[in-house]
Amino acid sequence: MQTLWDYRYAQRTQRMKESAIRELLKFSERKDIISFAGGMPAPEIFPIDEFREACDKALREHGADCLQYGSTDGYLPLREMIAHQSTRYGINVTAENILPTSGSQQALDLIGRIFINPGDRILVESPTYLGAIQAWNAYGAEFIPVPFDQDGMDTKKLEESLRAGIKFIYVLPNFQNPTGVTLSYERRLHLIELAANYGVPIIEDDPYGQLRYEGEHLPAVVVLDSQTRSQETCYSGNVIYLSTFSKTLAPGIRLAWVIAPTEVIQKLILAKQGADLHTSTFNQISTYEVAKGGFLIEHVKLIRKVYRERRDVMLDTLEEHMPSCIKWTHPKGGLFLWATLPTNLDAKVIFNEALEKNVAFVPGAAFFAEGGGHNTMRLNFSNAKPEMINKGIGILAKVIKNHV
Ligand SMILES: Cc1ncc(COP(=O)(O)O)c(C=O)c1O
Repeated sequence: MQTLWDYRYAQRTQRMKESAIRELLKFSERKDIISFAGGMPAPEIFPIDEFREACDKALREHGADCLQYGSTDGYLPLREMIAHQSTRYGINVTAENILPTSGSQQALDLIGRIFINPGDRILVESPTYLGAIQAWNAYGAEFIPVPFDQDGMDTKKLEESLRAGIKFIYVLPNFQNPTGVTLSYERRLHLIELAANYGVPIIEDDPYGQLRYEGEHLPAVVVLDSQTRSQETCYSGNVIYLSTFSKTLAPGIRLAWVIAPTEVIQKLILAKQGADLHTSTFNQISTYEVAKGGFLIEHVKLIRKVYRERRDVMLDTLEEHMPSCIKWTHPKGGLFLWATLPTNLDAKVIFNEALEKNVAFVPGAAFFAEGGGHNTMRLNFSNAKPEMINKGIGILAKVIKNHV
């Protein structure tokens, strides 16, 4: 039934769809569910004591400053720390290149605000991160999917789309959400070259880069891009890089950051002023207190150990129970793997049946900007404990076997 409100909403709301994931998270909050659905970190290893101490210290030492409005630019010591830590990964930036945001999700939205006009075309991996599709749909973006394989975005197929006029390329090079796949070194180089040739910027979304469980660390696209330029201390290249504390500390603090040329940072600051004035002062100061010194580095080592074990349990259990017609990725890091069913199966049907047996995952279709993927599924391995992963995959395999 139409209500009076329906005539009042802006046109852009017609493009806003309920996120399949947020809907599913409602189920996964149920205690009786074994959830492979959301991208939730393991709650057992949240640094609760460290946050308790840091909050106390922040209030003791910074007093009213913690509770006062702050500048949109963000808390300077935090920005300096992020700049310093980024240099460990080869990203040469200063605090001027960094803007703290309320989660990377806000960064995606701000990027939409400053860049996207209705009808603008954005190149995305196929499949890609659902939250970006959601954020940019509202600004009237059109998504051009780029084919994707075990080495990530197929850059050989990029050129034709680039000729058609593109606003930017959105890429998740490390342990991509949803597939867990990593963009190869060669393709990273190719991507930068093509983007530079066609004058198209790259948005690099990297929440999982530090969570590698095997193999060599690959330089971020922003690093490779800065290497193609003359020695610079302040980054002024072609890439906007996003990362977050959500997966290395805790998502509830809603704290992330953007690295970009200073002129882009200034535009983002203007957009952010209109969105939320600034990122929570209290969260910035207390997170800085937790993360400074060596704690974050040590904590990431613990996360890697725990998630590597969970990934291995999931891979082993899949191997043991799944019929041979089911294929899945072997991620070298991150939080997810991606399974493909035979094309005559619909992952939503499997989802409904699995849910009746108290197991949840995300049917993959939601991650395809332009449709498709009905027979795919995203499985998260960070949240459930190993014995639950074992049990849950066993149940899921039984449900699938009934259909093949
Ligand atoms: C690729 C990607 N980008 C952005 C986000 C949002 O992260 P945040 O919690 O910092 O908003 C996520 C969260 O899962 C993600 O996987």
